Amino acid sequence: MKISIFGLGYVGCVGMGCLAQSGHTIIGVDVAPEKVERINNGQATIVEKDIDDIIAKAHASKTIRATHDYKDAVHNTDISFLCVGTPSTDKGHLNLDYIYQTAKEIGEALAEKQSFHIVVIRSTVLPGTNNAISTIIEEVSKKKRNVDFAVVSNPEFLREGTAVADYMNPPLTVLGSACPQAIEIMKELYKNTNAPIEVVAIEVAEIIKYVNNSYHALKVVFGNEVGSICKEMGIDSHEVMRIFCMDKQLNISPYYFKPGFAYGGSCLPKDLKALNTLAHDLYIDSPVLNAIEDSNHKHLQKAIRLIEQTNKRKIGIMGLSFKAGTDDMRNSPIVNVIEVLSGKGLEVRIYDKNVALSRLIGKNKSVISEKLPHLNNMLQDSLSDVVEWAEVLIISNKENEFKTIPHNANQLVLDLVRIAELENHPQYVGLCW
Ligand SMILES: NC(=O)c1ccc[n+]([C@@H]2O[C@H](COP(=O)([O-])OP(=O)(O)OC[C@H]3O[C@@H](n4cnc5c(N)ncnc54)[C@H](O)[C@@H]3O)[C@@H](O)[C@H]2O)c1
Repeated sequence: MKISIFGLGYVGCVGMGCLAQSGHTIIGVDVAPEKVERINNGQATIVEKDIDDIIAKAHASKTIRATHDYKDAVHNTDISFLCVGTPSTDKGHLNLDYIYQTAKEIGEALAEKQSFHIVVIRSTVLPGTNNAISTIIEEVSKKKRNVDFAVVSNPEFLREGTAVADYMNPPLTVLGSACPQAIEIMKELYKNTNAPIEVVAIEVAEIIKYVNNSYHALKVVFGNEVGSICKEMGIDSHEVMRIFCMDKQLNISPYYFKPGFAYGGSCLPKDLKALNTLAHDLYIDSPVLNAIEDSNHKHLQKAIRLIEQTNKRKIGIMGLSFKAGTDDMRNSPIVNVIEVLSGKGLEVRIYDKNVALSRLIGKNKSVISEKLPHLNNMLQDSLSDVVEWAEVLIISNKENEFKTIPHNANQLVLDLVRIAELENHPQYVGLCW
């Protein structure tokens, strides 16, 4: 395919070399004269493993060239990759000046071009940018999006230092566009890449890179905080994290990653508190570990606010224990929610088949007597009695029988845990989805 690349920095130069290596013809565009000159001399614009050879070979085989002339680049290619910088402003916002400038240039070029053109956003941009770029190009070119041209969000996942290898072996390819024709062409472009191609909503494609990188930053800081605590105790932190990473079921896995309700139960709150107290006693600053409980508490408050904002008084709670299939209510976050709601005078009825008052012994019994002395009056034996009575139903764990709760047009279903089968209820609200 014939591809133009706007921005010949790390992403653009690697993209240029790797696409040329895969048999495509590339025209690079940059505002920096020295970068254009280097490419036209067969030299890479960056220092990066393998890229010098790749650019030199592509230049020798005449499959790459560079120019300042954006019209030349757009008129002589079918796809334009946007790889310009998106730095932070001094106030921390994203500076999209380069992106918008490039969109204007492509719009000007497209005004004079008849064939369909695809604009691919490789730069890291916030949700809404695909639409903003489409609007600029429409205004400048007087062409119609998804008819004369299309914008595809296709975030780049490479890391500097291993950029060529990362480009050639991505974990996956993400595509988001309102134009099926453009998606098909992009799939063809990536058909030899040995990785799944995920076609997703544009906003998903736009935000994913931020989610990835924020998580990577969190991993670094988490490892460092664990390291500091371990070092202070004379424990080999690298050995600890090696063992940590061996658990592919709970640690390095999709488990615990689904947006849902606050964590609770007998272990997570207790053990996190113990590690934080240990760090405190060792005079170790561990702000990330410290912030976890606060974040969890704020999430619980968000659930309470959502219930209060309904201005309804009859609240039915589906599930009292901290997760399905157990009667354990120690640190069950919904117990705190119920405590607040009943303290505010709302009527609460609860259904949980695993929590029968007669079986309550030990720690569970004390949770109830301290926090919910009136639980006796709230707990109901019949799911349908609670469902028929409630103005608002709160789904607080993933018990199987909650999937088939009957529809009621007058009833609000506030789902704290995301039971997919409930999402088509007439008045469905998810806590954070
Ligand atoms: N560097 C990485 O490892 C990496 C990885 C993935 C994604 N990204 C994202 O990719 C984007 C580019 O990053 P980078 O590190 O390659 O940036 P960079 O600063 O190395 O390169 C950007 C290039 O764009 C050029 N440019 C600016 N305005 C232009 C215009 N109007 N027309 C043509 N060229 C123009 C600049 O001269 C520069 O050469 C950023 O959004 C970044 O967040 C970077």
